[in-house]
Amino acid sequence: MPDATSKTEKPFLTDVKTLRDRARKDIAEGAITPNYKGDPKHTVEILQTVLATEIVCVLRYTLHAITATGISSDSVKAEFAEHAKEEQEHMMAVAERITQLGGEPNFDPEGLASRSVSQYSTGPSLVDMIKENLIAERIAVDHYRELIRYFGDNDPTTRVMIEGILAVEEEHASDMLDLLNLHGGK
Ligand SMILES: [Fe+2]
Ligand SMILES: [Fe+2]
Repeated sequence: MPDATSKTEKPFLTDVKTLRDRARKDIAEGAITPNYKGDPKHTVEILQTVLATEIVCVLRYTLHAITATGISSDSVKAEFAEHAKEEQEHMMAVAERITQLGGEPNFDPEGLASRSVSQYSTGPSLVDMIKENLIAERIAVDHYRELIRYFGDNDPTTRVMIEGILAVEEEHASDMLDLLNLHGGK
């Protein structure tokens, strides 16, 4: 007896013709194709917050790299400068993803601090600076972990990008804790 269901069952993978036809339709949507399960507008809104967070991190680490003083501040300055560079790479990746999703990355200095989840804080001493950076990293780590769960399979590209950034922020937090212990701040 022939299997009646086999003909009507949907294949797991979309056939080439359908993929080609779909890609031709709505080409102005760029990277957003019909099987994108996320909400591009909402994703862009979330990523504007991530972008602001990364910009604030670039600014804070840059300030610290320049203004840190005291015994053995040279090695700490170098660490701050390296982090500033990595935060800038995050900033670029997030801005590019916003563009791919049809948004315009918000680099407006107006309102930047309130769009960001981490703060632009500093302190007079080296230990204060290290502490502020550690706090900022911990906030970013917490926020990005939540975002990874939120994006899940609906937007794997954004999720994978945030996962990559998260791994670096975790390293940053761990570097700051090492520096804090080294410089006697508890
Ligand atoms: Fe970052
Ligand atoms: Fe970081």
